[in-house]
Amino acid sequence: MPELERPAFSVQNLIPLLEEHYGLCCTLEELPGERDRNYLAQEKKGDTYVLKISNACETLEFLQVQNVALERSAKLLEQGRIPQVFPNKNGESLSRVISADGSQHWMRLAHYVDGLPMAEYRPHTRDFLLELGGMCGTVTKALHEIPAPPPSSTLLWEMHNVQETLEKYMPWIKDEKLLGWVKKSLDLYSRTIKALESKLRRGWIHNDFNDYNVLAVPKISGNPDLGLIDFGDMTHSYLAAEPAVACAYAMLNKPDPLEAAALLIRGFHQHFPLEEKELEILFPMIKMRLCLSLTLGAFQQQNDPENEYLGISQKPARELLERLQEVNPRYAHYLFRDACNMEAFPGSSAFRNWYKKAGGSFHGLLGEPLNPENTAVLDLSVGSSLSAKTEGVSLEKQEDILDEYLRENNAEIGVGKYAEVRSFYTAKEFLNNSIDGEEKRTIHLGIDVFAPSGTSIYAPIDGVVHQLQDNQSELDYGPTVILRHKFTDVPEFYTLYGHLGRDCQKQLEIGQVIKGGMQLAKIGNSNENGGWLPHVHFQLILDLFDFNGNYPGVALPSRKNVWSSICPDPGLILGLDGESTAEEIDSGKLLKRRNNVFGPSLSLSYQDPLIIVRGQAQSLIDSRGQFYLDCVNNVAHVGHSHPDIAKAQSNQAYVLNTNTRYLNPLNIEYAERLCLLFPEPLDTCFLVCSGSEANELAMRIASTVSGQQDMIVLEDAYHGNTRANIDISPYKHNGPGGKGAPEWVHEIPMPYLYRGLHRDPQTAGKLYADEVEKICEILSAQGRKPSAFICESMLGCGGQVPLPEGFLQQSYQHVRQHGGLCIADEVQVGFGRAGKHFWSFELQGVVPDIVTLGKPIGNGHPLGAVITTRKIAEAFANGMEYFNTFGGNHVSCSVGMAVLDIMEKEGLRQNALETGSWLKEKLEALKESFPLIGDVRGEGFFMGVELILDSESREPAPLQADYVVERMKSRKILLSTEGPGHNVLKFKPPMVFNQRDAKHLLSELEQVLDESPLQKNLKF
Ligand SMILES: Cc1ncc(COP(=O)(O)O)c(C=O)c1O
Repeated sequence: MPELERPAFSVQNLIPLLEEHYGLCCTLEELPGERDRNYLAQEKKGDTYVLKISNACETLEFLQVQNVALERSAKLLEQGRIPQVFPNKNGESLSRVISADGSQHWMRLAHYVDGLPMAEYRPHTRDFLLELGGMCGTVTKALHEIPAPPPSSTLLWEMHNVQETLEKYMPWIKDEKLLGWVKKSLDLYSRTIKALESKLRRGWIHNDFNDYNVLAVPKISGNPDLGLIDFGDMTHSYLAAEPAVACAYAMLNKPDPLEAAALLIRGFHQHFPLEEKELEILFPMIKMRLCLSLTLGAFQQQNDPENEYLGISQKPARELLERLQEVNPRYAHYLFRDACNMEAFPGSSAFRNWYKKAGGSFHGLLGEPLNPENTAVLDLSVGSSLSAKTEGVSLEKQEDILDEYLRENNAEIGVGKYAEVRSFYTAKEFLNNSIDGEEKRTIHLGIDVFAPSGTSIYAPIDGVVHQLQDNQSELDYGPTVILRHKFTDVPEFYTLYGHLGRDCQKQLEIGQVIKGGMQLAKIGNSNENGGWLPHVHFQLILDLFDFNGNYPGVALPSRKNVWSSICPDPGLILGLDGESTAEEIDSGKLLKRRNNVFGPSLSLSYQDPLIIVRGQAQSLIDSRGQFYLDCVNNVAHVGHSHPDIAKAQSNQAYVLNTNTRYLNPLNIEYAERLCLLFPEPLDTCFLVCSGSEANELAMRIASTVSGQQDMIVLEDAYHGNTRANIDISPYKHNGPGGKGAPEWVHEIPMPYLYRGLHRDPQTAGKLYADEVEKICEILSAQGRKPSAFICESMLGCGGQVPLPEGFLQQSYQHVRQHGGLCIADEVQVGFGRAGKHFWSFELQGVVPDIVTLGKPIGNGHPLGAVITTRKIAEAFANGMEYFNTFGGNHVSCSVGMAVLDIMEKEGLRQNALETGSWLKEKLEALKESFPLIGDVRGEGFFMGVELILDSESREPAPLQADYVVERMKSRKILLSTEGPGHNVLKFKPPMVFNQRDAKHLLSELEQVLDESPLQKNLKF
């Protein structure tokens, strides 16, 4: 690498030159530069520029090309994203200056582009990479047709010279492994480019979209503003080299580098369409850029052995090149074609034509053709009950369920669909680490035919035995046969038969000719087929890559298009006509239908709503089979879709479900069990259908018993969706669309230690209770009395706020002294959520007069309850009957009982206490590193993390809270915000949330909090 002497200038002699040529008075700070001298020039009145003194060897023509490139790019991109040249006093973009040693140089001043280098910016989301690709495409569009001749001399980083450059500098690589990879990569490139060279488009390109030349200005919502600097390596080369260079850097340090490349290419193609032949060379070119960087790095290191930094900076590139050795270049090619909306497998249409023509001529896989008389198509998708019932149970049980299903459908053979989204591939081999956290492979690429083990399998078409293998790992294929097929007018293709009986491995031979209709193997039993119910997995394969005897039978949802192009639907071969192909849920259409049929006041979570089709313990599962850790659903108390709950519900539904007007042991037993969970004298129960109904009834009881109307409530409280509940819910009646409190509702300030009126924990409880007393006295002065004081035992909508010590005790005293009743709303916080106690009012050492229950009581089943004293219940019985059609029905009681059983059996309160305390301690520790966290509070599995902009003023940070929620969602963790400032992250997961989940939540939260848009001290 030629050593170039940098221009001999100093800050002292440049300051007057700036004044002379541009009339600017600036301070200068030197920036890094390999050949040139660069300075940050800060003008007194505020504008910032970059001053560049070019190397003496740079020609005027080349610098002029750069200026045109800057101008053209700036026109296509948003202002400020590309350095804009500042003309000198004569209106020229370049000024001639003489250095201390007498050499002549060109000087250019350009506006400073701000932002963090992409290498330091986090996160590189999918949208970020698309946008980056878009900018890269736009710049190529702006540059490629600049009417200037290619440079006359050869530059080091040019793709069209890469072979010579690598050959020249490769001897400097001392790392044998690296040398091997570089040679292999060069070989691939040389083979691929040979046929394409003359056909590839050429033009001017930036040629250095590296992670320090791309700048990002973080934004709290939406993509960052991207900028691009340093046009000094511009060259006239293959246009495809532009995205290839950008990919090489964007792929660094990514969990799945190909995913990052595909996104960048998609963005590029949207702005500057790539041609098919360019896509063919892209992957080898990406590797070439990495090889160039590593080879020239090795050369530099030999010349500067003391420079440790050189080695460190090459580490990610070396790691990436190593990982890319594993990638089949054809696979990368298909992926990139798909990214550009081309059919991923280039031979697909030829195959399809042949396939259609050949339809009808295939032999039956089981001998006899599959037809509606003997076959039932199964729904094994993630959202189906058949699939949910068969997961996690023994093979015998699975067999019973399948047999019963087939019997009910008068079928002997079951067919599992192609392209179906399935959640039962649980082995770690099915996981991929992607930009958005773990992605599970869930899309089935074959068709399953379920028939008894020992059933014969026949070849549907002529072929040759290509591969045989016994894949013995748990949940693998067991024995497989792969046939190769060769016909005219269609590229060679393969069929795979999995989960076979072991005998075929001995009976067949590689290379053996198989005639269509010949017996091939038998369906294997569960001991030999990988541990599945007996079935054959049948798959079409158009490119076998380097697989041998095993082949992916399930794809990542994000790669569905690619894999379904390589492995088309084999339904036609089996004589199945479309019914064996799963349909994808279209989120756009679903959203439209929802908006058409439901009222617009119904809200949806997240900017890009989730399609949730199933729940499982602490997870919600979307329509692509991806698991989300649910940290907010306190309704699914004992876990989503708990099988014991489902059984309790279903079993009782077979027997009886009616109202409470008959004697029956079930609802009585349930009410007795519920009451036993309360301290004396709370011993009487009313069963209702929701938390709102419970609070309605509680208000009705209170006013009947006290003979009064007036209610005392807390600021920002929420108690339910009915009219009277809205009246007592300041969160609603003081919020958007609300009309304020009615005359009979009296609000006290929220007892909120962190942000409220009184913040001293020693005195706050009393001071807030004084507010209750004040209202009682005002009412008294008007000749009125409170009917009741209603308060959640920890505040939910108020922002996950625990009450200050002594608050309920003293408030209850005041209310009772004035003749009112005390209602504890435990709809959110009951049933052991607080960990220390079963009921959260116990945290305050009080016994309420009435307790209302909802949400967790039925684990999602509509059930609620009001618990009170016998005395109050008797006073309420004034002659008017209390009737509730559904409240206390037998199915509900059966479910309620199952919830209590599971809580006991699984020790869930204790879990909330232990896991919750551990998590709270860790969250509190995060405050040290992240000043955005103002407060961590709560008990057990009911916590709030309050985000603030400033620790002095405690100004709420709602945008930052939204950012965290959205980012956590993209990492597959569900959180949401709460509180009047919308700045509290709420945590109230199903009670089966465990220590592993807590660690996962913490680690993801920590990473998100560390992302660039949340850093306060950035100067943008
Ligand atoms: C504290 C509290 N009480 C009552 C309710 C009303 O319960 P439901 O929605 O079941 O009617 C809610 C609901 O969010 C609540 O948070």
